[in-house]
Amino acid sequence: MDLQNFDIDLFLREYWQKKPLLIRNAFHDWQNPLEPGELAGLACAEETESRLICQTESGWEMEQGPLAEERLSGLGKSHWTLLVQAVDHHVPAVADLIAPFRFIPNWRIDDVMVSLAADQGGVGPHFDQYDVFLVQGLGRRRWQIGPHCDADTPLLPHEDLKLLSDFKATEEWVLEPGDILYVPPGIAHNGVAVGADCMTYSVGFRAPSRADLLGHYVDDVLDGIPDDELYRDPDLKAQTNAGEISPEALARLQQMMLESLSDPAHFARWFGTFNSTPKYPDIDWRPEVPVEANDVRAAINAQLPLARNPASRLAFIATGTDTLMLFADGVCFDCSGATAALAKDMCADDFVVLDSDLAFSPAAVDLLTQLCNHGCIAFDNED
Ligand code: SIN
Ligand code: CO
Repeated sequence: MDLQNFDIDLFLREYWQKKPLLIRNAFHDWQNPLEPGELAGLACAEETESRLICQTESGWEMEQGPLAEERLSGLGKSHWTLLVQAVDHHVPAVADLIAPFRFIPNWRIDDVMVSLAADQGGVGPHFDQYDVFLVQGLGRRRWQIGPHCDADTPLLPHEDLKLLSDFKATEEWVLEPGDILYVPPGIAHNGVAVGADCMTYSVGFRAPSRADLLGHYVDDVLDGIPDDELYRDPDLKAQTNAGEISPEALARLQQMMLESLSDPAHFARWFGTFNSTPKYPDIDWRPEVPVEANDVRAAINAQLPLARNPASRLAFIATGTDTLMLFADGVCFDCSGATAALAKDMCADDFVVLDSDLAFSPAAVDLLTQLCNHGCIAFDNED
């Protein structure tokens, strides 16, 4: 599914992280990838994260999944929305929805949340921290957008939901199947179903917060710092006021900390590992019996296609012209030569057919064996 009449450079320059954009009829041949009943089924399953939001006379109510089938079949004709997180991890046709947005690097992509709403159903006016492409899949939804919000924007008092207490729409549109609304972080928005069976696919992004980066990186750095590295001042001069902490001492203290944090190679290795840690590690592709090098060689020789676990996070950082670090679900693999090229192919595509020469590369076979046993990839021997 490709985007049509969409100028990527213009989008990145004018809209990405800056302002909302409505894209009408965004796909050549839009086909809704999931039926309403299938989404309801996922919301009842143990392995998915789901929510049901109902607007009642007494206000907004939220129920956490998994939901009972009777609960869903007993819902009324209006004012409810069912939301399932990371549907792309379970339904390949929903995962395919991410492909058109791969002009944004994979490490910034989070997952696809899918909502199913009855007439007038919605989650209420709110803002998100992350960019999102709201793809209208089935039925119609009226989207309103409002001003930029932040931590000071007043919210309704509610235990579970962060809804804006004072939402004033600045623009609104009714989206039809195949239309997309891009909403950058912080922009107030409110989507209300117009009619039954309204399905919206949220292709969501992620971005690390400064607090997360600092907190986790400092922990990692601390692991490698010996206890006996203390502040030293062999050049100490007599002070006129012994009560002062001098600017020189402060600068040296701060420098002591900053220099531990400023090694780019250490940061790259840590960040790749941190960023590739999976959010939903439960989708377990690990083989019951561990795969061995011989199995991998046989799979390469049989030209079996290699599939990536949709819940796995794969990325690489180049360290030289033909060397790189491959990060797979929080584990770092140093690769070079043909193995580095293979790692790049696996990061670029969901399905890779391997060059048969790789069977003769012990490093490549070893990498594939380890990735299979970690459950990040699997050889597809269906047919
Ligand atoms: C929805 O699909 O109803 C909600 C998506 C959003 O506003 O983030
Ligand atoms: Co939102």
